[in-house]
Amino acid sequence: MKKFLDTISEEMMKAFEEAGYDGALGRVNISNRPDLCEYQCNGAMAGAKKYGKKPIDIAAEVAEKLASSKTFSEVEAVMPGFLNLKLDEKFLTDYVRAQMKEEKYGVEKNETPLKIVIDYGGANVAKPLHVGHLRPAVIGESVKRIARYAGHEVTGDVHLGDWGMPMGQVITEMQERFPELSYFDESFSGEYPAEPFFTIADLEEIYPTASGKCKNDEEYKKKCLKAVLDLQQGRRGYRALWRQILDVSIKDLKRNYSNLGVEFELWMGESDADPYIADMIKDMKDKGYAYLSEGAYVVDIREESDKKELPPCIVQKSDGSYNYQTTDIATILFREKDIKPDLIIYITDKRQELHFTQVFRAAKKCGIARETTKLEFLGNGTINGADGHPFKTRDGGVPRLEFMLREIEDKMYERLRENEESRGGEALPEEEARRTAKMTALAALKYGDLSNQIAKDYVYDVEKFTASEGDTGPYILYTMSRIKSILRKYLGSADGDYTPVDMKALEDCVTGIPDSAHARDIMKDLAMFPHMVEDAFNERAPHKVCSYLFGLANDVNSFYHDTRILTEEDEEKKKAYIALIRDALKLFEAGIEMLGFTAPEHM
Ligand code: ARG
Repeated sequence: MKKFLDTISEEMMKAFEEAGYDGALGRVNISNRPDLCEYQCNGAMAGAKKYGKKPIDIAAEVAEKLASSKTFSEVEAVMPGFLNLKLDEKFLTDYVRAQMKEEKYGVEKNETPLKIVIDYGGANVAKPLHVGHLRPAVIGESVKRIARYAGHEVTGDVHLGDWGMPMGQVITEMQERFPELSYFDESFSGEYPAEPFFTIADLEEIYPTASGKCKNDEEYKKKCLKAVLDLQQGRRGYRALWRQILDVSIKDLKRNYSNLGVEFELWMGESDADPYIADMIKDMKDKGYAYLSEGAYVVDIREESDKKELPPCIVQKSDGSYNYQTTDIATILFREKDIKPDLIIYITDKRQELHFTQVFRAAKKCGIARETTKLEFLGNGTINGADGHPFKTRDGGVPRLEFMLREIEDKMYERLRENEESRGGEALPEEEARRTAKMTALAALKYGDLSNQIAKDYVYDVEKFTASEGDTGPYILYTMSRIKSILRKYLGSADGDYTPVDMKALEDCVTGIPDSAHARDIMKDLAMFPHMVEDAFNERAPHKVCSYLFGLANDVNSFYHDTRILTEEDEEKKKAYIALIRDALKLFEAGIEMLGFTAPEHM
């Protein structure tokens, strides 16, 4: 069905035409002065010059044409030429009824779906996920789900860092410690051990040790660089060892991402670009795009419109090895070959912007990305501590994601028990309480992140994120839990029965004419859902999903406080109330799904 604002605009456009003006002037929007009116049209002001008339006169003529409108119950021309509008109740009700019957609540099937790759997560092999990985993972997952809801075909790829210096460092450190192992014996031609000799805990100790040594020991660093080169050039023992490092590490990463509610369709890495690199570089050299500069091969990516001079993109270092840029360009090459995407979205820290500018331009210039493939960088802002500096652990270290998640879970658990106590009544069994705390913690963390614009920095504030009031994940979940509890009572469930609400049993409840301002507000919210999805996708803006849900939650809670729902005596009215909150619940479910978390049955 046609989106809500488009539907009501159509009526206004007709009126402009009937009054002899350009129909395009009749665009209607939500009022920016809700105290004065619900919707407004500013077309008369825009048309005044063209028609040489006073805006108020145009507005008055248009208003007259709408005197018997079935869409608007009030159309008022006010100085200097605004059209202030109020919706007809029956029109609004009919619209929402039809909309909520649709599979995606008015979000149309996409007739021109885009094929999209989202490159997010950015985990590095042999290194634990830390605070810096939180935003790319959470944002990427949400952008992916929003894009899917909007009807696009999306593949998420973690694009592991598995081919650079850290690999050389881990291999070198292992070789220093266990030189006798077959992996390091270049004359060895037998089978390498099937099982790795190290665990994830070992890796977590080995990598920082090696990287620390590199900072003070030039000899050691040279060994590491050599190991990267040997690995990339196919040294057999290194490849075998590397495969095992990958396996051990990926298993752990999968567990961590899964705890975060983040799932990738593809677990490719920088190394998957390797088979394409040699030919790609040769082609770049042959065509003259890559040329020798101070020993390295570079591509000049400057453009005339640049305000500052951009450094060239290095595609092959002077020792013959490849770098982060090279693997990213070659990754575009094989994504073009295997997937042929219309759009690739990259999500990492915004400090990587120059890297992506270089990669995108080089890929376009060298004809590796098709002209029609859109390459897009979404750089995220930093997570700060209360002091305004990047968030650190108490002793100044880099906080690990796993521990951050645990801290927020413990906090949620504490709050849950506190709430139970203050409410009185029965307490959740321990296991159930822990499970609920886990789910709400994820909501707290993700919502705390996603409610900020992607590019903005924000302060990591566990107290704030876990609060049950305010613009937080738990507040949304509490509101959902409240709705579910009313629906269950309506259906006659016993106290303490927290099984999922039987939505089918509520099917005979139909949305009724709103009989209060709060009911009306909820209906207007519902009507805006498809607009929200469209905006959130087009602007890559999960925070729009958050603010939509927050607004809906506020309206639902105001309605709840003002309305006797279950004790309403008029049966039809009661059913209409139930329908209204049931419909809101459906959109909450759809919304949190787009944000990447779920709701417990009871809180
Ligand atoms: N592994 C990288 C890092 O830790 C992020 C990868 C982002 N994606 C990409 N295609 N470069 O910085």
